[in-house]
Amino acid sequence: MNKILTSKLSLLNMPRRAYSGNPEIYNTIFDHYVKPGKHRVVGAWLLAVSASVFGIITIGGYTRLSKSGLSMVKWKPHGGWLPSTQEQWEQEFEEYKEYPEYKVTNKDIDVEYFKKIYFVEWFHRMIGRGIGVIFTGPMVYFWARGYFRYRMKMISTVLLGLGALQGGIGWWMVKSGLVDKTKTNEVDKTPRVSPYRLSVHAGFAYAIYGISIWNAFTLLRRPQEDFITLKNLVDHNLMRHKIRAAGLLLTAVYLTGFLVAGNAAGHSCNTFPKVGDDWFIKGKHFISDIPLWKNFTENKLVIQVIHRTLACGVGSLFLYNIVKLMGMNLTGRARFSLLLLSAVVLAQITIGIKVVHNSVPLELGSLHQVGAMTLLTATLFALHSCRRLDLRHMRNLFGKLKMENPELYRNMMKNAKSSTPEQVIKDLNKYRR
Ligand code: HEM
Repeated sequence: MNKILTSKLSLLNMPRRAYSGNPEIYNTIFDHYVKPGKHRVVGAWLLAVSASVFGIITIGGYTRLSKSGLSMVKWKPHGGWLPSTQEQWEQEFEEYKEYPEYKVTNKDIDVEYFKKIYFVEWFHRMIGRGIGVIFTGPMVYFWARGYFRYRMKMISTVLLGLGALQGGIGWWMVKSGLVDKTKTNEVDKTPRVSPYRLSVHAGFAYAIYGISIWNAFTLLRRPQEDFITLKNLVDHNLMRHKIRAAGLLLTAVYLTGFLVAGNAAGHSCNTFPKVGDDWFIKGKHFISDIPLWKNFTENKLVIQVIHRTLACGVGSLFLYNIVKLMGMNLTGRARFSLLLLSAVVLAQITIGIKVVHNSVPLELGSLHQVGAMTLLTATLFALHSCRRLDLRHMRNLFGKLKMENPELYRNMMKNAKSSTPEQVIKDLNKYRR
């Protein structure tokens, strides 16, 4: 009977076996992740890693916007220092002159200007290696001291793998900008990294950040058993569904944002909401002599309009959901996370519009990148505030129900066979009142 009831609960996206068992008292859910008492130090490490990744993404955006990314034409995985003498600088500059960016767009620059763009790219790469050290050093220490449980071992291994891969992806991306574009089938022949590879590089960076900050939240925020009760459980579930649905659509906004950035498409149109003189994108905006699908990935105007339209649509969905959720029985922390999320959504859309109106000035472009990261953080923070309950906590809650309201508990058990998921919610709502 328990099985039937819990499978109905699973339709509500609650863990299976939630009804089974008697109340068991756990002080913390962290012990899935780390040895007791170590959640703060491991959480602080993950938070520091997240802050560093946030930083490097911002620097990466600046590198792209300041057109510095193709100044270093070689890659050594272990890195190296800046050239120290004028001769060494001259030699680097001579090598750079062999590549299309110099030949096509940067013919006028001198070695002093070259030093500036080289420094930006070098700094970006060195920070990447620095993050590798910040990550790996403590990881090895924590692992060796037995701080990590299985789950944390998996998480840290995945992060390490993604981080190592990211270095290689970075060079794979840069290489695509060192080739003669007239010999490729890319639509825009300006020397620039491939928009697809840039999207992969940026996507990996956002994924590393997301995994790291999510787990930092898990280890540093108060555990669920402190605030999720049977009275607010159903509404928190609903919040999770709504924010997750909008969050999934948000990934499309990010992907199209990367394509806008990778194609330098922010300059293609500086009117919003109108597309030049038109209200909507029209057939004439499509390039006819390239495959149709390429219009959605390399036609600058089309991709910009798709990005901003999607962004406004998803932003409106977030705000609509948030307004609806604010009327529900949520904890203070969940409400706060929703208010924060709505403020960040509005700010990010406003910055995006300013970016378009001003044809992507460096500061606004960088701010839009910071805004995108902040929005990812706010979305994850909100989702974390209503995350799936730990199974043991569910058992505790139903154990508590058994003690506090034996009749309702008995009825729920009795009706387990015939009750629909809606009935389960109704039963829980009875308890709520
Ligand atoms: C939910 C809101 C939004 C999100 C999450 C978002 C996200 C992003 C991301 C991740 C990028 C790539 C940044 C980079 O790699 O440097 C980007 C670029 C861009 N976005 Fe958005 N965006 C949003 C709203 C908007 C809006 C409303 C507009 C315009 C009306 C806009 C215009 C642009 C432009 C022009 C770029 C290219 C900037 C550049 O070249 O650096 N965005 N966006």
